Amino acid sequence: MRIFLLGVVSVLTLLAGCAQSSESSDTEEFTLAHNMPTDHPIHESLVDFQRILEEKSDGSMKLRIYANEQLGSEREAIEMTQTNAIQFTKVSASALEGFSESYSLFSMPYLFDSQEQYRETMKMPEIQEAFYNKTADNGFIGITYYDAGVRNMYTNDRILETNDDMRGLRTRVQPSQTSVQMIEALGGTPTPMGFGEVYTALQSGMLDAAENNESALTDNNHGEVAKHYFYTEHAMVPDILIMNVDAFNELSEQQQEWVQEAAAESTELHEPRWDESMEEARQIAEEEMGVTFHNVDKSSFMEAVEPLQESFQENEATREQYDLIMGENNNE
Ligand code: GCU
Repeated sequence: MRIFLLGVVSVLTLLAGCAQSSESSDTEEFTLAHNMPTDHPIHESLVDFQRILEEKSDGSMKLRIYANEQLGSEREAIEMTQTNAIQFTKVSASALEGFSESYSLFSMPYLFDSQEQYRETMKMPEIQEAFYNKTADNGFIGITYYDAGVRNMYTNDRILETNDDMRGLRTRVQPSQTSVQMIEALGGTPTPMGFGEVYTALQSGMLDAAENNESALTDNNHGEVAKHYFYTEHAMVPDILIMNVDAFNELSEQQQEWVQEAAAESTELHEPRWDESMEEARQIAEEEMGVTFHNVDKSSFMEAVEPLQESFQENEATREQYDLIMGENNNE
């Protein structure tokens, strides 16, 4: 598998440097890779992006989408985007923390008060400016965000009532320093790993717990091996569509607009699709997979992570973004 992936990567590397001209010299083809299956709502929204971009450009800008980690994990897809081996990827903001510290803010527990506030904030032009260009020196920029839901804890068989029940639980987190600190603050044992490894790790008992939105149970089958889901609602970490910065700069102004408009329109279409998918996921997990959904004492989780939240108030590297999100600028 590894050899196959390397093969794909080196072919893509040979093609690096520009999108591919195909069919006629007026048609450019771009590559986008991501880590979710094709029946996942995020894939469907990326297909919207593909369709709208093609429509706006009258067929002159085409997108080839590789789903399902076919080209590698989120980390590998970011690295391929950096080198322009692929032009786009969609990754969790947590995966971008290692490329710009500003993104660590999204892994801060309880950053947003509500889903409405989260969605509104993520669409504010000043917020987008404060994040999306921060990685330009690393070879890529943000283009849009997609709602990736509310993250909650789930376990093989352990029952959580308060955060005390997290003690010693080997809990999978995304490879992000802030996510590691969050599980430490809650008393668990953080185990960072790529998303594609989580199912087997839960199944083999290497992990006791993980945290994600409801679709991880169904679209990614974790509900087969994790039977309890707890509404800790500890984070809303957006997915970010990123693009190689040179590939973007080489586009004409008109093409750049098409990319941005197509992305923004796909973000709008994504929201109702997401809400419907999460309801459906809960129903399928409950009725067909035997997962039990629990309410927990959320306040104990909130209290346990207060020191981590406070450390963000003092962090100069994320101050601009923190103030913007907290709306402090409006109060001046
Ligand atoms: C969410 C997110 C993915 C990410 C995954 C994870 O599902 O949308 O981009 O890979 O969480 O926990 O790794």
